[in-house]
Amino acid sequence: MKIKTKLTKLGRDPKKQKGFVNPGIYKGSTMIFNSFKDYLNDIKNDDDRKTLYGINKNPFYEQLEEVITKLYKAKDTVIAPSGLAALIIPFFTFLKKNDEVLIIDTVYSPTRTFCNNILKNYGVKIKYFHPINNINNFEKLINKKTKLIYLESPGTATFEIVDIPFITKIAKRKKIPTVLDNTWASPLYCDPIRLGINVIIDAGTKYINGHSDVLIGFVTSDKKYAKEIRITTKTLGLCPGSEEVYLALRGIPTLNLRMKEIEKNALKMAKILKTHKLVSEVYHPALPHTENHKIWKRDFNGSTGLFAFTLKKRFSNNSIEKFYKQLRIFKLGYSWGGFESLITFPPLDKRIYKDKLPGNLIRIYCGLEDSDDQIKDVTNALKILK
Ligand SMILES: Cc1ncc(COP(=O)(O)O)c(C=O)c1O
Repeated sequence: MKIKTKLTKLGRDPKKQKGFVNPGIYKGSTMIFNSFKDYLNDIKNDDDRKTLYGINKNPFYEQLEEVITKLYKAKDTVIAPSGLAALIIPFFTFLKKNDEVLIIDTVYSPTRTFCNNILKNYGVKIKYFHPINNINNFEKLINKKTKLIYLESPGTATFEIVDIPFITKIAKRKKIPTVLDNTWASPLYCDPIRLGINVIIDAGTKYINGHSDVLIGFVTSDKKYAKEIRITTKTLGLCPGSEEVYLALRGIPTLNLRMKEIEKNALKMAKILKTHKLVSEVYHPALPHTENHKIWKRDFNGSTGLFAFTLKKRFSNNSIEKFYKQLRIFKLGYSWGGFESLITFPPLDKRIYKDKLPGNLIRIYCGLEDSDDQIKDVTNALKILK
């Protein structure tokens, strides 16, 4: 089956759904034992994670887990109540006191906050590395205490592409698990397992759901680490609401259509901005001038709606506010992946490696509105900046 067909079929089986095209929702905590014998076995097994209970086993949730696992050609998926909740699971799975973790410096900023404010207190040493500069010496950062490598590509806010197979090859040799936050690409545009990644994070809040009305996250693992990831998730009691699971499942049949449209819209906007007189640089990995564009082309099948650009000079917050007030389509708000276009002005001050930008950094998410309207909106608003 080709991907478009898969998206409409996976996770849906009318025979098991009393004839309905879509699955029925099972809500809940309590599940009833088949027999007293089963109950006694459950008590005996001495492992809470295997207990017959809503957190551990819900056939409706399993339908979504199976879809994401199949899309990523992986072994297993667990569902968390947000992308952020999902991405902390590998840290709790692989690390203990006195271990070290290597994290890409262009990581989603709440990932850094979790590591610096919580993980550090458990005695784990956190080392950040630049996705491009000095990457040939990456291996030198590894020592006996290194127990996890955490990647995100393209990076948050500045969209650098890291050479994933280069890193995973080293990691495999050293027997260190690798995690990739693949939310930007989704399973449609990147196949992390093929690139050697062990564990994939996908904030389904973004493209999988696609309508800005759900928080949900996925941790998808290869055969080697699937069991460990599941054990951590269930031990932590992480479990999303059933409506969120339903809406994520509902997003999947239209994922391809939405991705194609936002890809087109964002590329068109990025190309226009590249030639704009106020713009210094456009950070969009599908543009040939960007660093590691060749690697992006090798490892990804497409680009998506999120990118950024810098202005040639630094404008005051007052001026930027005037620019923002001119916008009619793009709204100021966090997150992305929905139908609506968004804009933010990401700070980079927490990064270890300070790449000097000539002016303000502006992040754009192109949604599903008409592309000409989107372009007119941004270029009109830029006219206020002098
Ligand atoms: C790259 C990336 N990963 C993870 C997340 C977290 O997702 P959620 O908003 O569902 O917690 C985000 C959210 O913006 C993100 O941009």
